[in-house]
Amino acid sequence: MLTLTVFSALIISTVISAQGFSKPGADGRYTISAQGIRAQFIPYGATLTNLFVNDKSGKEVDIVLGYDDAAYYATDKSHPTYNSIPGRYANRIGKAQFTIDGKTFRTQKNDGQNTLHSGTNNWSYRTWNVTAVANDSITFSIVDNEGESTGMPGRVNTNVTYSVVNGTWSIRMVATAPETKTPLMLTHHTYFNLDAYKNPATGLIWDHTLSMPYAKRYLAIDSNALPTGKTLTAEAGSINDFASKPNITLGHSKSSAQFKGNCGGSCEGYNGFWIFDDVPDKNGAAVLTLASAWSGIKAELRTNQVGVVLYTCAWSDGTANLKRTQGTSARKKVEKSSCVAIEAQDYVDGINHREWGRVDAEITGPGETYIWESTWSFGLL
Ligand SMILES: *[C@@H]1O[C@H](CO)[C@@H](O)[C@H](O)[C@H]1NC(C)=O
Ligand SMILES: *[C@@H]1O[C@H](CO)[C@@H](O)[C@H](O)[C@H]1NC(C)=O
Ligand SMILES: *[C@@H]1O[C@H](CO)[C@@H](O)[C@H](O)[C@H]1NC(C)=O
Ligand SMILES: *[C@@H]1O[C@H](CO)[C@@H](O)[C@H](O)[C@H]1NC(C)=O
Ligand SMILES: *[C@@H]1O[C@H](CO)[C@@H](O)[C@H](O)[C@H]1NC(C)=O
Ligand SMILES: *[C@@H]1O[C@H](CO)[C@@H](O)[C@H](O)[C@H]1NC(C)=O
Repeated sequence: MLTLTVFSALIISTVISAQGFSKPGADGRYTISAQGIRAQFIPYGATLTNLFVNDKSGKEVDIVLGYDDAAYYATDKSHPTYNSIPGRYANRIGKAQFTIDGKTFRTQKNDGQNTLHSGTNNWSYRTWNVTAVANDSITFSIVDNEGESTGMPGRVNTNVTYSVVNGTWSIRMVATAPETKTPLMLTHHTYFNLDAYKNPATGLIWDHTLSMPYAKRYLAIDSNALPTGKTLTAEAGSINDFASKPNITLGHSKSSAQFKGNCGGSCEGYNGFWIFDDVPDKNGAAVLTLASAWSGIKAELRTNQVGVVLYTCAWSDGTANLKRTQGTSARKKVEKSSCVAIEAQDYVDGINHREWGRVDAEITGPGETYIWESTWSFGLL
């Protein structure tokens, strides 16, 4: 099976190189496409720079955030992990430390007293290798050596394959830690605005609807967006409820007093982790649907992950430019609360919360293979 896959991958990449498809375009982007979908990537962060799907009038719309200049991602170090892969351990590590087999490791404090996205040598700011390219898929690889992710033990090898088919975009990450046990928990940090910032009525994200029928529970967070350990259940109609109805808007609690501090600290909206419980068929059931009535676009997520981080861009400060595929003559910047990052992953800081039962899932060692899979299906409301 493995031999066959590697063998056919070799044939495909040889054929493609011969035809010249393994090269990026003049704009520095690799493009893959299929019916109703076109996606573009750069090796920096294994980043998705553009994702085109059709809106209700049949027009191609670029529904993810990014920059026009592919080189700018590496220059603007303040970009908020735009559609890339933070690694080797996504999101926060409480008090910048963890313990494996009785030994305590300390990571970088780059977010108050905590570690965010593995510190300042995170994978989303490194240039990955392109190891296979076809018309409808691309594979990026990274070797993260001992010492490169500050405080993390041992080497991690990772391949991520992005592929498209008939209106769907799939992501598959495979990683190993051949020498020693290490925290390993990945995500794809995808920022959406399904209107491409073109809705004349609003550039904000609050009119988008979000449905997560299996996510009634979520993790309580402190003022630094670090989970406290408590698991809460969202009552129907409450601020963190996206489970009780299929068409709850992201702004449904905008006028409630809780909205201002809900995302951890003094920021509005969302920056928490929701838990998917009792998903009937892990491959069949959509665990999350994001939609916009204005563009008519609907995005359904299926994943092998047990939950999702939602972040509604409270820290976008209106300085970053929109791409030329987005915005209007009057709207050219990424304003606060104008997007939503959707990050399927395991429990935030689960390595430090044995009571959640996620420690084994978030630590990988010799002989084990870590696999992360998600599929986004795009259609119309
Ligand atoms: C990731 O690394 C870059 C480059 O060192 C740094 O600028 C950025 O702040 C880091 N990200 C986080 C979340 O720490
Ligand atoms: C890839 O695209 C090229 C150009 O559009 C086409 O000639 C070729 O047949 C395609 N290859 C595959 C495997 O679909
Ligand atoms: C890319 O491949 C080269 C050659 O194998 C290797 O030296 C380099 O470390 C790789 N880069 C990454 C980001 O893994
Ligand atoms: C593509 O997807 C659409 C919508 O889900 C479906 O109706 C159509 O049959 C699919 N086409 C192919 C070739 O699979
Ligand atoms: C990544 O892909 C290469 C083939 O390009 C393979 O040799 C390697 O074992 C893969 N690594 C992982 C962690 O799956
Ligand atoms: C949500 O759906 C209900 C029926 O399930 C409908 O009555 C209501 O108008 C819808 N609201 C929005 C904002 O679409």
